[in-house]
Amino acid sequence: MASLQAPCCYSSGSQTSLPARFNIRQDSFSASCLRAIVDIRSTPQPLSISGGSSLIPSFLQCSSFSTSNSLDFCSSFTVNASSSGEDLSEKIDSGVERLQQIIASRKEEDLRERILSGEFSVSSSRSRTKKIRKVLMKWGTFGRSLAFFLARYERNYLVQQAKKVPEARGDVRAITGQPFFIPLYDLYLTYGGIFRLTFGPKSFLIVSDPAIAKHLLKDNSKAYSKGILAEILDFVMGKGLIPADEEVWRVRRRAIVPALHRKYVAEMVGLFGRAAENLCQKLELAANNGEDVEMESLFSRLTLDIIGKAVFNYDFNSLTRDTGIVEAVYTLLREAEDRSIAIIPYWDIPIIKDLSPRQQKVAAALKLVNDNLNDLISICKRMVEEENVKFDEEYMNDKDPSILHFLLASGDDVSSKQLRDDLMTLLIAGHETSAAVLTWAFYLLAQNPDVLAKLQHEVDLVLGDRMPTMEDMKKLKYTTRVINETLRLYPQPPVLIRRSMEDDVLGKYNISKGEDFFISVWNLHRSPTLWEDADVFKPERWPVDGPDPTEVTENFRYLPFGGGPRKCVGDMFATFENITAVAMIVRRFDFELALGAPPVGMTTGATIHTTAGLHMTFTHRHRFPIIPVVEESAVTTINENGSVTSYRPSNGSTKISNREGQEVKK
Ligand code: HEM
Repeated sequence: MASLQAPCCYSSGSQTSLPARFNIRQDSFSASCLRAIVDIRSTPQPLSISGGSSLIPSFLQCSSFSTSNSLDFCSSFTVNASSSGEDLSEKIDSGVERLQQIIASRKEEDLRERILSGEFSVSSSRSRTKKIRKVLMKWGTFGRSLAFFLARYERNYLVQQAKKVPEARGDVRAITGQPFFIPLYDLYLTYGGIFRLTFGPKSFLIVSDPAIAKHLLKDNSKAYSKGILAEILDFVMGKGLIPADEEVWRVRRRAIVPALHRKYVAEMVGLFGRAAENLCQKLELAANNGEDVEMESLFSRLTLDIIGKAVFNYDFNSLTRDTGIVEAVYTLLREAEDRSIAIIPYWDIPIIKDLSPRQQKVAAALKLVNDNLNDLISICKRMVEEENVKFDEEYMNDKDPSILHFLLASGDDVSSKQLRDDLMTLLIAGHETSAAVLTWAFYLLAQNPDVLAKLQHEVDLVLGDRMPTMEDMKKLKYTTRVINETLRLYPQPPVLIRRSMEDDVLGKYNISKGEDFFISVWNLHRSPTLWEDADVFKPERWPVDGPDPTEVTENFRYLPFGGGPRKCVGDMFATFENITAVAMIVRRFDFELALGAPPVGMTTGATIHTTAGLHMTFTHRHRFPIIPVVEESAVTTINENGSVTSYRPSNGSTKISNREGQEVKK
């Protein structure tokens, strides 16, 4: 993972506890307000929301959504809420949910209509003086000269405008309350592959065109930095690989990439299997007890356990216990996400920075994590000093195969601050992204039983009841396609961030130094002009016997791991991690979305989260016996001239080869 979201959408609300949702977004905050209003006025009186309506607009104002809609809802809500007890609180909850859904869907519709009506359009290539010129033409020679002058002026103006990137201008509130990449999609359908989005004094260039994305990420990548992303992540990643500037990045990338060699990744497949087995045991318990499980938080814990061990040989064991360090890591992750979508950099405001309890908690968490990392670095340094193993390309310590151990054993000459930054970056990059991919993969599988059945069939044949190995990764081809397709529909992160460091030309447009770019991977991956059935989950779109899809095979319309020099270093690691977890779970369980669970909506952080978790019901699978595929042998006959005829009974095909084994025409 690398990029976080645009700092333009929501004000961050209060926080949830561990770890499924890291922010309470504006809508859920609104819902909390409503719940609070209801609580204050609670039973035994029949509830009257209209009396509290002065509070309601205060949160609905934010949604550019008419108050009458909400009051319609509230009046029906008043009637429903006049019963008592548990029944009442259930009704309140479902009322709150309904309100949230209404707000979200009305806002989406509303915004779509406004975009289509051209409300956000600034420039237009249509003539605006035609009518005036027509009138002027009737005013004799003077009028005709004036009309001629006006036409020439307008033509020059339009030529100049054509060189400018199309611009959409609006009120920041128009896109609040929903994941910010959703309105960007509607704007993309209206304005095309590159447009400027202007909110007050701030403007961003939104890119949804594969050729421009390739230019920014690969062909002219040197001219682009990580911009605001580096500023936002500074507190936790410092000069780690993701935010690092060119100079630091070059040195650190060269040191870190070799640590993820094939032997290391093969060893990690064992780790993925063991961690996934811990998760399966939790699911087993839930299946036995008939309890629903919230999978987003479980996947978050699974991938935290994996990345802790893989990067610095630390057992978070978050699937089995909650410790201070796990809580501290989540505090930092949450803070990074909140900062990425904050309207103002509240963390830089002196009084807030020093006195806010939340910022104090962040500082304490950072200290705890850094102290732990320092301890781990010291322990690892001692191990390296004591060992007597020659360092080579595929160096790995069997007791501690971590990336940290590799870096120290390689003699990497680096300050402990830089090493800490690198480790934190790998921890964050490798944790949230994989958790999000697994969450959305299971969401999609639950709704596509045909895909699930095909997947289970493959896993049964390839793995049976064995633990997965590196060799299996190549054989689990359909499982890989399921992951590829999940990453297309739910790219993590959905937007990549860049800033131009010099003037540049993008197609017919001149771009100045200092422009902020959002490359919308979401738009690229769901573009109706780039994909057939763009919104449909179809792992078959890439044949299993073809190459794995990457940004190269798909010419930058598909960017699951970015592209160019800043491409993800953990792509193979993450793909195998996801394949292993999916395979281990689906071979053992059937599953579906839990009945009565909240609808699975999207919300943005660094990655795409669910709004209220992914609640699922797991049941034990009734498995059919595994029938191995028997390699079919052909019947061969040696002919008089020494050539060989081979015949396959199953399809009746005949092949003739000469003495040298080369196929010859019949
Ligand atoms: C499914 C899981 C993952 C996804 C979807 C993913 C996605 C990405 C993407 C899109 C980028 C490019 C960001 C940009 O250009 O701004 C990136 C960069 C990066 N990722 Fe991943 N990633 C995943 C897992 C991992 C893992 C497991 C690790 C570490 C073990 C990792 C480490 C990194 C690092 C260090 C970078 C920065 C590379 C650089 O700037 O040189 N990622 N990732």
